[in-house]
Amino acid sequence: MRAGKYQGWLPTLFVGKLLQGATVGIVGAGRIGAAYARMMAEGHKCNILYFDPYQNKALEGAVNSYGAFLASRGEKAVTCTRVTSLQDLLAACDVVSLHTALDASTRHLMNTERLRQMKSDGVLINCARGPVIDEQALVAHLQANPDFRVGLDVFEREPEMAAGLAECPNAVIVPHIASASLFTRGGMATLAAANVASRLVGEPVWHSPNEVGAFLDGEVAKRPHASPSIVNAKELQLPTLSK
Ligand SMILES: NC(=O)c1ccc[n+]([C@@H]2O[C@H](COP(=O)([O-])OP(=O)(O)OC[C@H]3O[C@@H](n4cnc5c(N)ncnc54)[C@H](O)[C@@H]3O)[C@@H](O)[C@H]2O)c1
Repeated sequence: MRAGKYQGWLPTLFVGKLLQGATVGIVGAGRIGAAYARMMAEGHKCNILYFDPYQNKALEGAVNSYGAFLASRGEKAVTCTRVTSLQDLLAACDVVSLHTALDASTRHLMNTERLRQMKSDGVLINCARGPVIDEQALVAHLQANPDFRVGLDVFEREPEMAAGLAECPNAVIVPHIASASLFTRGGMATLAAANVASRLVGEPVWHSPNEVGAFLDGEVAKRPHASPSIVNAKELQLPTLSK
C-alpha cells in the first residue's frame, strides 16, 4: 500500500500459492524444526517430510495422530515421514525450511546443486543460521528462477547481505527477528540468568531442558530449584533433578 502498487482489486493481483495440502520439507527436525512442522501440519494442513540424522518419533506421532483425527472427521489426513535422502526431500517439497544447527555438515548445505534440486517454483525458508545457504549461489538462483522464492531471517555475513540479494523481488528478507517477541527475548535472559544462578548455588539440572515453562511463568521466588536448560548437562556430568 505504501509503495502505491495497489491500484484496484484484480483477481490475479499479488496472488500466491495455497499452502493447504502442500508438502513442507523440514531439514533438521529438532526443537524449532519440529515445532514449525506441527504449525504447518496443524495450521495449514500440510504434509511433512523431514530429513535429520535422528528420527523424531514425537513429531511423527503428533502429526500422524492429527492426520488420523482429520480422517475420522472425513477430512484429508496429513502425514509426517522421515526421508533418508536430502535430494528426495528437495525434489518433492513445495516449501523447504532449514532448521539445522550450523556446523561443518551444514555449512553451505544449500549450494547451487541443491538449489537446483528444488522445484523451480519452490519456497526456501532459512531461520536457522545464514551460512547454511551459499548466499551468492542463492542470488544467482533467484535471478535465474523468478518463480522461486526465498524467505530469509539470517544471512551469511550479518548484518551484510550478498551483492544483489536486496534487489531480488523474489526474496523476503528480515533482520534476524525469528525470536523477536518481548516474551521470548525476556525468557531467554531469564533462563540464562537462572542457569548461572543455579550453578552458583550447586542446584541440579532440570530434567527437561525443552520444557521450561515453570521457570518463565509466575513468581521468580517460586521457580524450581534447578538449572533450567543446560543442554550439555550430561557431557558435563551434572546431576539431574528427577521428575
Ligand atoms: N533466527 C533466529 O532468531 C534463531 C533463533 C533460535 C535458533 N535459531 C537457529 O535455529 C536452528 C535450530 O535450533 P534448534 O534449537 O531447533 O536446534 P536443535 O539442536 O534442537 O535442532 C537441530 C536439528 O538439526 C539436526 N541436524 C544436525 N545436522 C544435520 C544435518 N547435517 N542435516 C539435517 N539435520 C541435521 C539435528 O539432529 C537436530 O535435530 C539453529 O541453527 C539455531 O541456531 C535461530
